[in-house]
Amino acid sequence: MPDRKSTRRTVVIGNWKMHQTGAGGAALAAAIVAGLRPGRAEIAVAPPFTALTAVADAIRGSSIALAGQDVFHEPEGAFTGAVSAPMLAAAGCSLVLVGHSERRHVFGDDDEDVRRKARSVLDAGMRPVVCVGETLEQRDAGQAENVVREQLEATVHGLSDAELAPLAVAYEPVWAIGTGRTATPDTAEAMHRVIRASLASLAGSGTAERTPILYGGSVKGDNAAAILSGANVDGLLVGGASLRADSFLDICHAAG
Ligand code: 13P
Repeated sequence: MPDRKSTRRTVVIGNWKMHQTGAGGAALAAAIVAGLRPGRAEIAVAPPFTALTAVADAIRGSSIALAGQDVFHEPEGAFTGAVSAPMLAAAGCSLVLVGHSERRHVFGDDDEDVRRKARSVLDAGMRPVVCVGETLEQRDAGQAENVVREQLEATVHGLSDAELAPLAVAYEPVWAIGTGRTATPDTAEAMHRVIRASLASLAGSGTAERTPILYGGSVKGDNAAAILSGANVDGLLVGGASLRADSFLDICHAAG
């Protein structure tokens, strides 16, 4: 069996959530650019919408990519407060998170919203990072795998292998986000295997083998390498530890 992992590029994304102004974000991004050693991993930062342009300027000419934290599925129109995929692309984004658990649980995004968002990101020529993950209650009830499978199925349903070429998935167990309670490398790897098998049955082996599956939830410099050692763990989605250049750089460098 060939080592498929070596064919997938490791992806590390810093999700700044609702932190940083334009000026603060530009300074943080500049510090990341200055400290990042060349490596094989693809590194991206996801600032809030209001900081995208300033951060785009700060990372220009570097290898760091820009990501949106969310999107609305319509391209334009009377949708007060919303930001579309073409707008994010024009602001310099090449990736967009969709279905983050905070969007699902705080803002009420459901699977159909996530599917439409992912499709709009693909239509705008960017890579959707589809976030999935179970709550502690669901895990304790033995439903974790089913919940994740259903979230994934609802999102990729109706999309062909070719359409899904840019797809990335992030497994973020809700109980591990911002809690300091990281999934063990074995727990993460087990769910990543389930996700890859689901992708194979939903969209074909091409999609399954090519799609990077990131882990997120209390990732720090001192646990990043162990989590990444899983054969199906292709990257990291980092929240709190991405808000300081030194801790984010430790994680990026652990990713190679
Ligand atoms: P923390 O790394 O702060 O747990 O956040 C994870 C996350 O939600 C990244 O999207």
